[in-house]
Amino acid sequence: MYHKKLDHMWNKYSGRLIRGTDTMQVKGYNEKLYLFEKSTGMTGFFSHKEKELLIEYVKNGIKTPFIDRLYSLGILTRTSCLNEIIKTLEEEPDQLRLDALHIDITTACPLDCLQCYKGHTSTIEMPLNVFQSYIDEAQKLKIFQIAIGGGEPLVHSQIVDFVEYVSKTEMSATMTTSGYGLSQELLGKLIKAGLNHMQISLNSIVQLVNEKSRDGFQHAVNAIQILSSTDLSFGVNMVIRKDSLDTFFKTVEYAKKMGVKNINLLRYKPSPTEDYEDYALSGDEFYKLAEWIKQVKGIKVKVDSAYSNLLIYLNNGRVNKERSGCMAGKSFIAIHADGSFKPYSHTKGTKRLIQFMNTIQTVSL
Ligand SMILES: C[S@@+](CC[C@H](N)C(=O)[O-])C[C@H]1O[C@@H](n2cnc3c(N)ncnc32)[C@H](O)[C@@H]1O
Ligand code: SF4
Repeated sequence: MYHKKLDHMWNKYSGRLIRGTDTMQVKGYNEKLYLFEKSTGMTGFFSHKEKELLIEYVKNGIKTPFIDRLYSLGILTRTSCLNEIIKTLEEEPDQLRLDALHIDITTACPLDCLQCYKGHTSTIEMPLNVFQSYIDEAQKLKIFQIAIGGGEPLVHSQIVDFVEYVSKTEMSATMTTSGYGLSQELLGKLIKAGLNHMQISLNSIVQLVNEKSRDGFQHAVNAIQILSSTDLSFGVNMVIRKDSLDTFFKTVEYAKKMGVKNINLLRYKPSPTEDYEDYALSGDEFYKLAEWIKQVKGIKVKVDSAYSNLLIYLNNGRVNKERSGCMAGKSFIAIHADGSFKPYSHTKGTKRLIQFMNTIQTVSL
C-alpha cells in the first residue's frame, strides 16, 4: 500500500522523488547503498549486510534497532520514499561514489590571507550558464552536495542565482566564505533562494592570532553574529596551524556561544607566501590537538578528510574502508572558476568534469 501511495511522485526522468521540503537521493555503488536526505543534510552509507536489513524493512516491514537508528539520525524521515530504495536497488545501474562537487565560482577575493593556498591570480568569474551546466551534470551523476566557494563567493554578483539554481534540485547548496560583506539583507536573499548551510572561515577568535594567517577578522565575526540570529545551519572552518593552536579552546567556546553547528578542522596546506614548516604542527602539537578535540563537548568537531592521520588517531586506529585516506577525487571533486576540473580546491584544474570522471572509471576498472 505504501508503495502505491508514493508511485505518482516518482519522476521517471531524473530518478528522484521530491516530497515538499523533503528530498531524498538514493544510489548504489559497489554493492553498497548511499542515501542523502536534503532536509536534514544527512548522508547514510550502508554495507551489503545493512542494505539487506533495509530491504527486509521496506519489503516486509521488519523493524530492527538498525532501522530505528536511521530514523533517529534523520537519514530516514517519516515521509521517506522507501519505494525509491527498492527501485534503485532493483532497476538502476551503479552510480559513481562521488558525493560532493566543490565549485569555485570566482577567483576574485578582496581579502589577502597569508595562509591562502590560492595565491594571487587574475580574476576569473564562472558565468551562471556554465555553473548551471555543471549542476545539470551533477544531478545526472546523483551528487548530494554542491559546495560553493572561491575566491570569495559572496563577491560574485550572481551568487543568489547560483544558490537558487541548486535549490531546485535535490542536491544541497552549501557555501564556504570569509563572511566578506555579508549583510542581513544578503543573507535573507540567500536563505530565500534555498541555501542549506554556510561555513565561515575563522582560525582564531583572538584577532591578533587570527591575523597571523587570515585577513578580514571583523567580516567573519559580523557574519557569525548575523547567522546566529537566523535558523540557517552554519559552521566554522578552522585551519589548524602552530600559530593558532593555543587559542583552539577559546575559539571553540566562542563558536558554541554563537550557536555554531559544527567546527570543521582543516589540515594546513602549503601556501605560496609561507614556509610550510613554520606553521605545520609538530608531532607533539599534533597529539596535544588530538587530546583537546576529545575533550570538546557540546559542539560537533569535524575533521577534513585530508587530515587522515588525525582522523585515524581519533578513531583509535579503526579505519572504515569507504572513508579512509583523503577523499579528494573519490567522494568529492572540485571545479575551478574557468570550468576545468581539479581533484581538490588547492590545485590547478585540467579537464572538463565528464572527461575526468571517465578517466576515474577507466583507472578503477
Ligand atoms: C580558499 S577559501 C575560499 C572561500 C572563502 N574565501 C574563505 O576564505 O572561506 C576555502 C577554505 O580554505 C581555507 N584555506 C585557505 N588557505 C588554506 C591553507 N593553506 N591550508 C588549509 N586551508 C586553507 C580557508 O580558511 C577556507 O576555509
Ligand atoms: S582564504 Fe578565502 S578569504 Fe582568504 S584570501 Fe583566500 S580566498 Fe580570500
